[in-house]
Amino acid sequence: MRIVKTVAAMQRLARRWQTQGVRVGFVPTLGYLHAGHMSLVARARRIVGPRGRVVVSIYVNPTQFGPHEDLSRYPRDFARDKKSCRAAGVDVIFAPGDGEMYPQNGDGAYSTYVVEETLSRGMEGASRPTHFRGVTTIVAKLFNVVLPEVAVFGAKDFQQAAVVQRMVRDLNFPLKIIVAPTHREPDGLAMSSRNKYLSPVQREQAVVLSQALQLASKIVKHKPVSAATLKKQLERLIAAQSEARLDYLEFFDPQTLQPVKTVGQGTQMALAVFFGKTRLIDNNKL
Ligand code: PAF
Repeated sequence: MRIVKTVAAMQRLARRWQTQGVRVGFVPTLGYLHAGHMSLVARARRIVGPRGRVVVSIYVNPTQFGPHEDLSRYPRDFARDKKSCRAAGVDVIFAPGDGEMYPQNGDGAYSTYVVEETLSRGMEGASRPTHFRGVTTIVAKLFNVVLPEVAVFGAKDFQQAAVVQRMVRDLNFPLKIIVAPTHREPDGLAMSSRNKYLSPVQREQAVVLSQALQLASKIVKHKPVSAATLKKQLERLIAAQSEARLDYLEFFDPQTLQPVKTVGQGTQMALAVFFGKTRLIDNNKL
């Protein structure tokens, strides 16, 4: 397994693979890898096969964090990430520094961003106004550096996957986006690097996100219901957890991401809940 730290070296390698006809699967991450990430790696490997190359990027991208968010305390453990990647058969870790991705050389300081203007507005985009601009910018840059044939994203970040898919379509990136299922802890909590922040009580209560999704699925199974009524019912479930503070809970069309008034089978539900300073998200098709 190779560790590549510069854009120039990664692009050289990627171009060589291209001329050799080697298939490249890519899993972009913020690091602090868990079993959910490794399932994305396994998916990339299945797609490109044993002769292909799987690249994982590990980069805590500052432009997708708001000024009062957890950039400086975001968990990092490169030694552990390396071990996990090696064990999973990753070929290359691309781990650039900020100077590589956002050069700040006086007059030549970094000044170009990619913005998706529709799907990124609600939910995460409303709660974290500069978040998706940072995500689309770094993902576009990583695609231009790694030159993958396929990139695998997790379904836990449903809106992110939709925004990236739209960007790929609109800007004609020559690659395919795969969205792989959310990996869950045995009690149903979606795996996330941010779960590490939770106190034991918060960790216990955090299962309420997946419980809310399950309850909603159960309620709409036999007949559609009003979004407002269902939302109130789920708000009560979440409010019963002393440490939980709901950020948003939305029912929407999975294609357009537009909110719906009536919730039935096939409606997408997403929610974000704070536990102290830690903000967790989850979603599912009902
Ligand atoms: O989902 C993530 O881990 C990040 O948003 C991504 C896609 C790696 C971009 O920094």
